[in-house]
Amino acid sequence: MSKKTGVILQCGILTISDRSARGGRPDLSGPALEEAIKNQGWKSVQTMIVPDDLEAIQNILINWSDVHNLDFILTTGGTGFAQRDITPEATLGVIQRLAPGLTEAMRAASIQVTSHAMLSRAVAGIRGKTLIINLPGSPKAAKENLETVLPVLSHAVELLRDDPKSEAGH
Ligand code: MTE
Repeated sequence: MSKKTGVILQCGILTISDRSARGGRPDLSGPALEEAIKNQGWKSVQTMIVPDDLEAIQNILINWSDVHNLDFILTTGGTGFAQRDITPEATLGVIQRLAPGLTEAMRAASIQVTSHAMLSRAVAGIRGKTLIINLPGSPKAAKENLETVLPVLSHAVELLRDDPKSEAGH
């Protein structure tokens, strides 16, 4: 049972970085997000590092959604303006429904911390019963953005599961 919400959510954490994928930089964001998920009493059942490659990103998102049936997937990295940043495009190619409220809230909260939050092109959306959320790449930015949406995640997942308990959240 989750300490905080009563529901154990299963999530995947996908670090998207050319440098980390080739071993040139340690991945600090993936472990930071894992820790935040563990603190909720939830489980990060899949973690992986991939380069900024559209097909590699999409293959994982599809596999974790359709085969592993994860409740939600957090991506970290590749949401900015650099030429190789294609996480939003990869995500848009696999989701079936957008969840713009999540990214609107993340950017609104993050702008209070840094005006650079405007440079995040992150998207969030739904594939089947899996919620996919893009987060920025630095550990600090990833954690700050996750903190904004954490309070709504268990209700979001109840709704995606068509769980009768979701009515209680209205
Ligand atoms: N959001 C928060 N809360 N804190 C931050 O430090 N950094 C921004 C932004 N969002 C930041 C943030 C920066 S500098 C960039 S370039 C964009 O996220 C995109 O980051 P990415 O390219 O690492 O995905």
